[in-house]
Amino acid sequence: MNFGTKLDEQGSFELLDRYLEAGGRFIDTANNYALWWGGDGTESENVLGRWAHRRKNGWLAYCCLQQRHTYLRPVAGARFDPQLAVDEELLDCCASHAADFLLLGYSSTLGGGYSGRPDRPIPPQYRGPANEARLSTLSEVAREVGAMPLRLVYAWMLHSAPLALPLVSAGSLRQLDENLGALESILNAGQMKRLDEAGDPPKD
Ligand SMILES: NC(=O)c1ccc[n+]([C@@H]2O[C@H](COP(=O)([O-])OP(=O)(O)OC[C@H]3O[C@@H](n4cnc5c(N)ncnc54)[C@H](OP(=O)(O)O)[C@@H]3O)[C@@H](O)[C@H]2O)c1
Repeated sequence: MNFGTKLDEQGSFELLDRYLEAGGRFIDTANNYALWWGGDGTESENVLGRWAHRRKNGWLAYCCLQQRHTYLRPVAGARFDPQLAVDEELLDCCASHAADFLLLGYSSTLGGGYSGRPDRPIPPQYRGPANEARLSTLSEVAREVGAMPLRLVYAWMLHSAPLALPLVSAGSLRQLDENLGALESILNAGQMKRLDEAGDPPKD
């Protein structure tokens, strides 16, 4: 995570070479670590790119892309600095490169915001009439399938095209069991359509 900032390029290459020799085949990286160390957010990715190029190890440049993603859509102009939220452009890109890389979503539960916890209100970046409509449809479908709305958020991500794999985060065994239940929640095509279209501007 500190490639190109706390750890210089030579040190990074040594570490990466050793990892490769030991059988490592997967690297998780994020721009925020560089930002925390005073960089501009490109350092670790650039070092990794140069390393992969020089070693010619045949790895794909990237096999996963990890971004903030949930069922509610950020309102216009919403910011999550230094994070970025998935947007339509990124979804189109993921859809057309589905064979090359997988979309991973984080903060998908909005810290438990869908569960109605009084200590976790829906963040201001997601508040607005369109998301009120989405929340209402989410609750409606949740009642139909007999699941918690939060579980349906994960299920919706897993049923979507392109698929988005949620990074499951739970603070207790109860929460983990509840969230893993998304794997059993089956949404039919009609329910997916309603969830997808909720909050869309009216069609002409
Ligand atoms: N690449 C990046 O920039 C980035 C950024 C952020 C996160 N991540 C990763 O993404 C993953 C998700 O992290 P996150 O914090 O963003 O996740 P999140 O889903 O927004 O929040 C997780 C928290 O939500 C609450 N929660 C989860 N399930 C619940 C349930 N069923 N009922 C009630 N509350 C529930 C818990 O809070 P309590 O523990 O307080 O109860 C849990 O710790 C992690 O692996 C993290 O490392 C990556």
